[in-house]
Amino acid sequence: MDEVVCAVRRENLLGEGPVWDARARRLYWVDIKGRRLQWLEPASGATGGVDVDRQVTAVAPRLGGPGLVAATETGVGVIDPETGAYAQRLDPEPDRPFNRANDGNVDLAGRFWFGTMDDRETGAAGALYRLDADWTCTRILDGLGISNTLVCSPDGRTLYVADSMAGQIDSLAIDPITGAAGERRPFINTRGQGRAPDGSAVDAEGYVWNAQWGGARIVRYAPDGSIDRIVPMPVDQPTSCAFGGDDLRALYVTTARKGLTGEALARQPLAGSLLSFRPGVTGLALPPFAG
Ligand code: BGC
Ligand code: CA
Repeated sequence: MDEVVCAVRRENLLGEGPVWDARARRLYWVDIKGRRLQWLEPASGATGGVDVDRQVTAVAPRLGGPGLVAATETGVGVIDPETGAYAQRLDPEPDRPFNRANDGNVDLAGRFWFGTMDDRETGAAGALYRLDADWTCTRILDGLGISNTLVCSPDGRTLYVADSMAGQIDSLAIDPITGAAGERRPFINTRGQGRAPDGSAVDAEGYVWNAQWGGARIVRYAPDGSIDRIVPMPVDQPTSCAFGGDDLRALYVTTARKGLTGEALARQPLAGSLLSFRPGVTGLALPPFAG
């Protein structure tokens, strides 16, 4: 494994939602609080970004038309990555005005899983949703504090669901054909450690790479929940990670400046940048959203 480097220098308030678009050969990520969609083309080093008129929290490439599927503070829709224009398709929570979306990822069958949370980061009004290819949206879990991770195992039968507020990741059994949810079991927790499990990526061996907010680290967990490896980060608030590059051998890590002031900010000049390292394993290849 080589060292952690800065892939793109940015001052994201809440960098989040990294995702590899294999067709565009781009790594997309968002700044939720900065209301921006950003991208990197690793082959050329080209970078770009567009402003969005609301908090965009997760995106993914899609099959059913142009643009990216996007979870936002108002619902789910399609975003044009060249202009930032957003066209809403549905709002799963018209009755929860304080909520916004948070993390989102595509499973092996091309379904888009996304979660919501109270933007004030209090209470447990968040939920988990499954967006199917026909854009039917189904509430799968409720009562989440800060929903995160939402990545699936290589056999497509487990969805890892983090509640950062509860300091825990659960494994949720899902039917690989229908997406129906089954048993929910605790996977790992970081309670009492001063760090919260945030976003994750899964590698081809089925291990889960989890960014730990407040913990300045990425942890690689075995499928049985044991710690396999700890990779220190040069920032306190890594928020999520995704494998990218044509060979899926680089792990890209988003980070946040939110809440950092004075000495804490001075100590971590890379807070808000996109980081990367080559962990020596290959990422699990994910399809685009099927809708
Ligand atoms: C949320 C942030 C939150 C962080 C740490 C992120 O996924 O978007 O609002 O502060 O997790 O729990
Ligand atoms: Ca997150």
